[in-house]
Amino acid sequence: MNIPETYNQLDQWTTVMFLYNSALKAINTKIEILNNEFIHLYNYNPIEHIKSRLKTPESIVKKLKRGGHEVTIPNMIEHLSDIAGIRIICSFSPDIYRIAEMIARQSDVTVLVVKDYIKNPKESGYKSYHMLVSVPIFLSDSVVDTKVEIQIRTIAMDFWASLEHKIYYKFEGQAPEYISRELKECADMVSALDDKMLSLNEAILECLKEGGEKPVPEKTEEVDAEIIEKLRNGTYHEERQSSGSNGIAMGNVIARLKLFTQNEDVMTIRSDGRNQGTEVILYLPVKEREKADV
Ligand code: GTP
Ligand code: MG
Repeated sequence: MNIPETYNQLDQWTTVMFLYNSALKAINTKIEILNNEFIHLYNYNPIEHIKSRLKTPESIVKKLKRGGHEVTIPNMIEHLSDIAGIRIICSFSPDIYRIAEMIARQSDVTVLVVKDYIKNPKESGYKSYHMLVSVPIFLSDSVVDTKVEIQIRTIAMDFWASLEHKIYYKFEGQAPEYISRELKECADMVSALDDKMLSLNEAILECLKEGGEKPVPEKTEEVDAEIIEKLRNGTYHEERQSSGSNGIAMGNVIARLKLFTQNEDVMTIRSDGRNQGTEVILYLPVKEREKADV
């Protein structure tokens, strides 16, 4: 990051913070676009929420002093990598790697450092995926590459990290041994919870794919009963064009109708492909309907 040396300290500070803030906005927008695209393509939202923050002047000064550096703007640019920070909270751990890869693949993003504390958790039990990236910020007469620290974690990892930070902070890093040990135990519990939720989600997706074991809410039972009754007395005829991903739900209804009518030839299903909508045509015994119409 090159800041004109002719600027006085205050101008330099304002310019630097403006750049970091712009970089936060740029990365935030990229992440939002990725999330929206996921919703659009797969009807699935991998990101629970995003938090972003600029480091406060107090923390910047503290961190520089802690690192043994003189408090200057060039030092802060050189030695602090988390002035602009974004935290992405995902639903499940595979989402973390998917999001990280998608960010890294963008041509204007340069990945400077990756620290995978999920594969290699910290001594404390801390788990998270860290990426230090830089993005170009286009100013009126120059382009400035600006660093942003991205932390990606699950809700469970975030829950642990937030509380651990609060608890540990009170001890200023000098917590009694048993507290650190128990916090580590909590980290293991949180990881087990993450694994359990992930495997449950995978099992549910598998059920939905097969179409058979999907839990049917009570309300649907009523609707089905009505359809089945009409089908039995020959007054039911419907052509339905469903948009969105209703194929699985329709598959369930059809399976049930087949079961009740014990007739394989009462319907046709036509699908235009994944997420393109499914057309279902139900055929009814024409004779019976004619009788009913007379
Ligand atoms: P910092 O100087 O603290 O920024 O650490 P670092 O330069 O070694 O980078 P690292 O990637 O290890 O950690 C950066 C950030 O990760 C921290 O500022 C915290 O937000 C988070 N972090 C790292 N370790 C822990 C931990 O044990 N507990 C919690 N709650 N957060 C952690
Ligand atoms: Mg930090």
